[in-house]
Amino acid sequence: MDVATRPAVAAEPPSLDALLALARPDMAAVDALIRRHMDSPVPVIPALADHLIAGSAKRLRPLLTVAAARLAGARDDACLKLAAAVEFIHTATLLHDDVVDSSQLRRGRVAAHLIWGAPSSVLVGDFLFARAFELMVGAGSMPALEILARASRVIAEGEVLQLTRAHDLDLSQEVYLEIIRAKTAELFAAAAEAGAVSAGASPERRRALRKFGQDLGLAFQLVDDALDYSGDAETLGKNPGDDFREGKATLPLLLAMVRTGPAEREFWIRTIDRRDQTDADFVRACELMEQTGALAATLDLAATYAASAKAALANFAPSNAWRPALEDLADFAVMRRA
Ligand code: IPE
Ligand code: MG
Ligand code: MG
Repeated sequence: MDVATRPAVAAEPPSLDALLALARPDMAAVDALIRRHMDSPVPVIPALADHLIAGSAKRLRPLLTVAAARLAGARDDACLKLAAAVEFIHTATLLHDDVVDSSQLRRGRVAAHLIWGAPSSVLVGDFLFARAFELMVGAGSMPALEILARASRVIAEGEVLQLTRAHDLDLSQEVYLEIIRAKTAELFAAAAEAGAVSAGASPERRRALRKFGQDLGLAFQLVDDALDYSGDAETLGKNPGDDFREGKATLPLLLAMVRTGPAEREFWIRTIDRRDQTDADFVRACELMEQTGALAATLDLAATYAASAKAALANFAPSNAWRPALEDLADFAVMRRA
């Protein structure tokens, strides 16, 4: 993308203070629901769940449910159980994902599977999914249940699709986008849409909020994939380099491979295809990401999606404080370091 046509984004990471202040009472109630529903008479379940849930989580997805509901005019608390359910779905997928990705750090803590083992991690993930469905039934909205049930299925499809296409040096950008739309953006979309539905929003507003969530989710994952080559573990709360070590064909890697051409073909085949690599190879890969502009191009695409997310809110009154607060969230998704 030409620099002149790059969408404008703030130079400094925008603050989420306005959104967090608006959502504080709702999010306190969501946290209480999360705590209550983590409980089980089987001791390893609350212990393992607490390890993950009390880590340095941003709670962006349940925040999106609450904010979408309030922006759409919700006056009651119907969105709260749905927001808690969204966080349970998310944490369930994280437990499974860290086993699949052999990740060692999550939310600033040692990954649960390294403490309790992969079998317990997978099974507690199942418990959290089940809890999410209990909460959704408790919320009493068949349309919201349908939206979040579909999202749970689509996330699983995205994760399996990614698994089967890992190490594929010829993965197209279309398939990459299909993967991140399914594994990440779908839950953002569903979180916002379920919030809108719980507020009794019109079909048009429901579609707008779904679109906001989806484009925000795409921006979020694109930045996630860039941070895997440019972030630091302390800020991120997870280890950079996981994607490289796993040989995951993310956009920064796909762009860097195309842009380095035949000169580095052997390097990519050895490190990604055969996963024969050292720490020095990761440093080299990061340099190539920078030199080729692969990271900048990934962030540019994220900025394009963030701009599109903001545009989806055009028909909501700017005087409704939730709208600028959600616009900040879109900017934050692009500028974040964690
Ligand atoms: C995670 O994708 C998506 C889900 C948990 C469904 P990644 O594997 O790319 O994300 P991180 O880097 O582990 O958070
Ligand atoms: Mg992962
Ligand atoms: Mg993964």
